[in-house]
Amino acid sequence: MNILVIGNGGREHALAWKMKQSPLCQKIFVAPGNAGTALVAENVDLGVNDFEGLGKFCLENSVGLVVVGPEGPLVNGIRDYFENDTALKGILMIGPGKIGAQLEGSKDYSKQFMLRHNIPTAKAKSFIVSDLSQALDYISSCKPPIVLKADGLAAGKGVIISLSQGEAKAVIKEMLVNKRFGAASAKVLIEEFLNGIELSVFVLTDGKDYVILPEAKDYKRIGEGDTGPNTGGMGAVSPVVFADPSFMQKIDKLIVKPTIDGLNREGIDYKGFIFVGIMNMGGNPFVIEYNARMGDPETQAVMPRIKSDFVELLIAAAKGELKNKQIQIDENCTVTIALVSGGYPGEYETGKVIEGLGEEGQAMVFHAGTTRQKEHVLTHGGRVLAISGKGKSLSEARDQAYAAAAQISWEGLYYRKDIGQDLLNYKV
Ligand code: AMP
Ligand code: GLY
Repeated sequence: MNILVIGNGGREHALAWKMKQSPLCQKIFVAPGNAGTALVAENVDLGVNDFEGLGKFCLENSVGLVVVGPEGPLVNGIRDYFENDTALKGILMIGPGKIGAQLEGSKDYSKQFMLRHNIPTAKAKSFIVSDLSQALDYISSCKPPIVLKADGLAAGKGVIISLSQGEAKAVIKEMLVNKRFGAASAKVLIEEFLNGIELSVFVLTDGKDYVILPEAKDYKRIGEGDTGPNTGGMGAVSPVVFADPSFMQKIDKLIVKPTIDGLNREGIDYKGFIFVGIMNMGGNPFVIEYNARMGDPETQAVMPRIKSDFVELLIAAAKGELKNKQIQIDENCTVTIALVSGGYPGEYETGKVIEGLGEEGQAMVFHAGTTRQKEHVLTHGGRVLAISGKGKSLSEARDQAYAAAAQISWEGLYYRKDIGQDLLNYKV
């Protein structure tokens, strides 16, 4: 089968890399891709929201399966576009329709969904600009830290945690009145702060049945010791020591199954990934958020641990045939480090020549913001590369990843040296 992956990040490189290993995969395309996806697939110069162009490309190239990487095209209705076109509707797709994607696209929608289905989550109330005075009164009744969330998509920046009521009041005015996140903050959720340790859980579902992929922990802050501003992700590890079988069973029973049953009950035909952001509070899981896609950089840590034929699982999910399918998981550990441009997540320069590619030994190098210019690979974004090391232990996987990272250089390169360190001696 010919497969089209939509996106241009490290996640899409890792997905294409894994799918390429399947005997079911004939040609694989990535739109628009990057210099790394070009090593495992054919890049296609089409934007992720160019549904017409992507549809035409699928027909011309006999694409049988489309795997949508980022949330944007899902929230914008790429599945609906394909399903409503007689020529395209037979093409299998991994990714929910517009309604299912609201689990990620609207934090108010997903909160209401969790409440309807008794899924454990933080208490929250939502407000629009005309409710500003009620929102300020409500903040006066909240114990800090206070979590403020823009309802819509805000490129991972829409959550602000305030340490005082005064700060929260200033932030909510900024969001509702000054439209800090544009239309995304037309509605804001004021949420209870959950104090715990985070875990990313990935589910592949056909809408009725599901498999749970290897779990991961993401490191979101730019600075070592989890300090400084949030980023798209500075690293990931898999497996996660505190996600032992009994904790994962709790997540399955209290969160994953009720989520899939809830989608079913509401008649939402969901074929794709659900990434559940979980907070572990003293052994009890709570949902922080849903995403309608895989995580980045978690995918770069998760894919190397899947032993099963991933394309077979994706086809089964897209066809509604996941029942009785199992996923085989490699017991080895992976550690992924994001190599970023100096200044990220603020302003940064691009176009720097990357040296040392090809010297990574056994580690896997997934490209995110890169582009090829003749014989050079140049930086082309904030997050540039994700290096995944693998080993029998977390410590072996870290050593492999960091040894490979040490071979790579460009002007301004930065990465965290402490990815996975907190879990090395973690006591459950
Ligand atoms: P999100 O954009 O929903 O992924 O949130 C970004 C980050 O904010 C999460 O990964 C958490 O670290 C943090 N966060 C979100 N909601 C809460 C909450 N209710 N309590 C504590 N931290 C939170
Ligand atoms: N790593 C978090 C995300 O992909 O949203």
